[in-house]
Amino acid sequence: MKNAELVRRKDAATPRGVGVMCNFYAERAENSEIWDVEGRRYIDFAAGIAVLNTGHRHPLLVAAVQKQLERFTHTAYQIVPYASYIELAEKINQRAPGQWAKKTAFFTTGAEAVENAIKIARAATGRPAVIAFSGGFHGRTMMGMALTGKVVPYKVGFGPFPGEVYHAPYPCELHGVSVEDSLKALQVLFKADVDPKRVAAIIFEPVQGEGGFNVAPAAFVKALRALCDEHGILLIADEVQTGFGRTGKLFAMEHYGVAPDLTTMAKSLAGGMPLSAVCGRAEIMDAPAPGGLGGTYAGNPLAVASALAVLEVLEEENLIARGAALGERLMDRLHSLRPRVPQIAEVRGLGAMVAVEFQQADGSPDAEFTREVQNRALQKGLLLLSCGVHGNVIRFLFPLTIPDAVMDEGLDILADVLVR
Ligand SMILES: Cc1ncc(COP(=O)(O)O)c(C=O)c1O
Repeated sequence: MKNAELVRRKDAATPRGVGVMCNFYAERAENSEIWDVEGRRYIDFAAGIAVLNTGHRHPLLVAAVQKQLERFTHTAYQIVPYASYIELAEKINQRAPGQWAKKTAFFTTGAEAVENAIKIARAATGRPAVIAFSGGFHGRTMMGMALTGKVVPYKVGFGPFPGEVYHAPYPCELHGVSVEDSLKALQVLFKADVDPKRVAAIIFEPVQGEGGFNVAPAAFVKALRALCDEHGILLIADEVQTGFGRTGKLFAMEHYGVAPDLTTMAKSLAGGMPLSAVCGRAEIMDAPAPGGLGGTYAGNPLAVASALAVLEVLEEENLIARGAALGERLMDRLHSLRPRVPQIAEVRGLGAMVAVEFQQADGSPDAEFTREVQNRALQKGLLLLSCGVHGNVIRFLFPLTIPDAVMDEGLDILADVLVR
């Protein structure tokens, strides 16, 4: 089967709304490399959108899923439960930020984790409103879209969205939004739009993912925590993209010295199997009545087995520290290229969650250069993802297991396509 033939069949059989970035089709993948149906090899700096911190088909994950396949694949946890679900919840409760009793519920997608975090926050507080941030991304469900602070392509044509969702600007010095600006906007919101006593939760990403890998300054996160405490609002950290070792810690919130009440996670949690979770203070997690949380596939045993193996691999291979070191190497390389690439406006990141933003000479976003870099890299066999509200940021999501030689090869391609 050739790529061109598959593109033709895709166009005829599937809707364009499911946008597809590559015009080649995967045949097999191993660690940090993918081969297409025509035998061409690609270095994978996309990792299935931040899902493969432990790489494609890590042998321990494959073995864990195979072992589970031999036992049972589905019982529906809410009908016939299994021990591995509890074991994984215990391990996450131990490791998630916050020195208090925690509980964890499992779901399937990141959006579903976000939906459930809001449900739990509303049930626990008896309040309706939620505050999110511009540039934030929280998924493609109705509440996910309502919370998301980026219109194209996520929200176009899909409204009306659930009410009682408010947005404030996320701090980003490069775009002229200081921490003070963000905090002032929240105060204005409380005066002009919503009584803080009606706010159930503030949800934010410690590092915005789709929004451009904007790293929340510590002062901002601490101020959010204080604001929540002042008004009895719950703080939700959406760690769907930042989680599971990407930022140099298991959870990005560990960088900030304050803990959220609820944490959402998905993506690299199960290393390629569909699994998400909400972890939070035990008494908050217990607010919804029995039967209020869950889903047919929520906490699927194959995915849970894979997630337990992910935790083992992260620890045994010291992957979180390795990821941070790789992130530093990438940042150094990008900084060294700056004199020869005037389009580089900023190199930023936390641990292995690194991005480079491009601007034109007049300081406006350079989405065209970003697309060119992405396309040229793809032609040379390097898979890169863009992000940012203006589509002018390249983000790097290489597996933390990537061999040094493959990383170097990827960085050389990157340098080659940036300097032209
Ligand atoms: C921070 C964040 N929240 C939620 C989601 C939605 O996750 P999913 O696509 O698994 O529904 C994403 C996906 O990119 C994300 O980055």
